[in-house]
Amino acid sequence: MFLRIYSTSIDPTPTEEPTMKLADRTAFVTGANRGIGRATVTALLDAGVRKVYAGARRVDSLPAFDDPRVQPVAIDITDPATIEAAAAAAGDVDLLINNAGTAAFGKLEDAPLESVHADMEVNYFGTLNVIRRFLPILETRRDAAIVNVVTIAAFVSFPGLGGYSASKAALYSLSQGLRIDLAPRGISVHTVNPGPIDTDMAKDLDMAKTTPETAAHNIVRGLANGDIDIFPDPAAVDMFGVWQGNYRDLEAAVSAMHHQA
Ligand SMILES: NC(=O)c1ccc[n+]([C@@H]2O[C@H](COP(=O)([O-])OP(=O)(O)OC[C@H]3O[C@@H](n4cnc5c(N)ncnc54)[C@H](OP(=O)(O)O)[C@@H]3O)[C@@H](O)[C@H]2O)c1
Repeated sequence: MFLRIYSTSIDPTPTEEPTMKLADRTAFVTGANRGIGRATVTALLDAGVRKVYAGARRVDSLPAFDDPRVQPVAIDITDPATIEAAAAAAGDVDLLINNAGTAAFGKLEDAPLESVHADMEVNYFGTLNVIRRFLPILETRRDAAIVNVVTIAAFVSFPGLGGYSASKAALYSLSQGLRIDLAPRGISVHTVNPGPIDTDMAKDLDMAKTTPETAAHNIVRGLANGDIDIFPDPAAVDMFGVWQGNYRDLEAAVSAMHHQA
């Protein structure tokens, strides 16, 4: 089962007529200094957006994007004061990309409870606080969108990443709830659900990984298509396909992978 998951290579997001115009967008990306966030800023620029606020805990950790459309902004998504300052500085955002996240490795049965809390604080409560503060801004914009970077591990709990999986399942549920609440106000809510991507976060995962650049390209393509749930790499597409057939099959595949290791 596990081999079957990784042995296919499906084009991640089918190309359809674009339903979200990116050219006149003003985006805000959290965690833009490295990994998927950094690559997403570049992919948005390549797609022709008007402006990107590149959010980072430390602005001096941001790369030189060498593009006048990029505006660095300090934001720690667990710190309400920096969220407030970031929102005050970015009153024209219509595409909020909540990418910042953490992943604590450890078994649920004995990982330090602080690390389980920490993932929930960043991935769930941190993202929720950012969304709450940016909502009044998004409401003033036409066809605004919120994009939450979740993970395929929201659909199946990965052994050794149980706390992270739970925090991201909570974020997926938050996205579903907001989608219902915000649809009448013209704000769409999207999720991005990657499999293993070759970033610092996944450096200890012994799996085939997709580059952050490819994932970011597929994220932006999915957004241009107006996709609600985006699976930006072949592993995510394969695992979601198994989950759709029968979610227990995905659980069995992940469990077999764990016990073979
Ligand atoms: N890599 C994967 O295999 C994978 C798979 C599925 C989903 N994802 C998700 O993709 C997103 C990006 O992860 P990545 O793989 O690019 O990991 P990464 O290279 O570890 O980057 C994580 C980013 O989040 C930022 N961040 C962490 N805590 C923050 C906070 N409290 N406030 C603001 N920014 C914070 C980090 O900033 P600092 O540099 O300041 O720490 C960094 O920019 C995450 O939400 C992750 O869960 C990753």
